[in-house]
Amino acid sequence: MPRTAAHGGGHRVTRFARALAADPVEALSYLPEEAARHWEHPVDHTVDPAWERDLHRLLGAPWPCPERVGADREWDAVVAGMRARGLAFGRHTYGHYSDADRSLARAVWCAVRHTTPDVVVETGVARGVVTRFALTALAVNGNGHLWSVDLPHPFEPALHAQTGAAVPGRLRDRWSYVPGSSRRRLPGLTRRLGRVDLFVHDSLHTARNTRFEMDRVARVLAPGGVMLVDDISTHQGFAEWAEDAGGAAETLVCPSADGEGLFGVVRRV
Ligand SMILES: C[S@@+](CC[C@H](N)C(=O)[O-])C[C@H]1O[C@@H](n2cnc3c(N)ncnc32)[C@H](O)[C@@H]1O
Repeated sequence: MPRTAAHGGGHRVTRFARALAADPVEALSYLPEEAARHWEHPVDHTVDPAWERDLHRLLGAPWPCPERVGADREWDAVVAGMRARGLAFGRHTYGHYSDADRSLARAVWCAVRHTTPDVVVETGVARGVVTRFALTALAVNGNGHLWSVDLPHPFEPALHAQTGAAVPGRLRDRWSYVPGSSRRRLPGLTRRLGRVDLFVHDSLHTARNTRFEMDRVARVLAPGGVMLVDDISTHQGFAEWAEDAGGAAETLVCPSADGEGLFGVVRRV
């Protein structure tokens, strides 16, 4: 179960019992994730300080980027919208989960604008910052659809009303929300779609789950397709995937804007 649920024995058990009663399958699926954390370790990544320039090289996009203005405007609109709704924004605002960082949001924007994907898949919505960036960029492209696999916080049901709060109604015609954990929903979705052009992992950041999602999507990732993988510093999932991929993928490790985390980029060669 997530770290917040791990605080304090009695409280932890009560919350797990409640989650179990609400959705036994999803609650039980946390147990192997918890067990696998035992083998997790942080990785000494080589972080690319010029990640944004190098992302554009990887995407075959111009640098300096003409899309920066659009991405910054979108960020300001998201922050203003969350404030107007009285919602805290940033780190640890959705239980122990955080809203997407500004650097990841910019990477999503640029990946969508520069590669004009038909099929975009993400995991982990929370209040929907990545969702909003992807959908706005798809709307500007006038092309493409986003599928979002999301298990609303299983141990804090009061947060469920905030799911997708950053996503306005006008953007939702290009959006399919797929409720449930990625372990349950991603295999069927990727099989059905048959091809993914852009994938964003931002769900449960364990090595086991990150690796599972990357392996599943890699099976159908289009040539030149891109994966953006958030929160890779605390576990070995991304690093091991990249090592196993060898020459089949180009990768970058990028710092978050607030310096607290790292996200990874993959481009299938
Ligand atoms: C870090 S937050 C997502 C932040 C979001 N992408 C954004 O742009 O602000 C993680 C989200 O993944 C959800 N989640 C947790 N475990 C999951 C799983 N196994 N599969 C899918 N979603 C999961 C959480 O409930 C939460 O909504």
